[in-house]
Amino acid sequence: MPVWASESGLKPDEIVRVVAYLRQLGGNISFKPDSSPARWIKADAAAGSRLFTSNCSGCHGQNGEGAEGPALKNKVLLSSATDRFLVETIGRGRRGTAMQGFLNPSPTRSTLSTQEIESIIAFIRSWEAK
Ligand code: HEC
Repeated sequence: MPVWASESGLKPDEIVRVVAYLRQLGGNISFKPDSSPARWIKADAAAGSRLFTSNCSGCHGQNGEGAEGPALKNKVLLSSATDRFLVETIGRGRRGTAMQGFLNPSPTRSTLSTQEIESIIAFIRSWEAK
């Protein structure tokens, strides 16, 4: 995924138009505007580290470097993704991809509680400092 907001890329209003087009392709699904602050999670990152190893590292790499799944130890992702985006992505998954929603029961892997998902996010956020 190259940088698009650059001299040779797209202008801000062009990016807005691409986003509008993508939303249209997705069926213009309405979403609730998120009134919570970008960062609100206060959870146990040490517990999140253990949960990440057992549930996520197989696809995202032991240190978030990425494998079958994309790298999560990624400056742009961590600085632009809100806690809500991460909670929703991990809880609900991405339909049609290997990324399953961890709130949904599955015969092949364990389910996570919202609290466990929040602790994984606290752990993932700890990579920002490095
Ligand atoms: C079976 C493999 C697999 C497992 C296990 C898995 N993921 Fe994923 N994950 C993926 C893939 C593949 C994608 C990219 C989906 C797409 O194309 O949109 C993804 C996407 C994501 C994204 C979105 C990244 C972005 O740039 O938008 C996050 C966040 C994420 N995963 C977190 C997790 C967490 C946390 C866990 C453990 C609780 C986990 N994943 C477990 C395969 C996996």
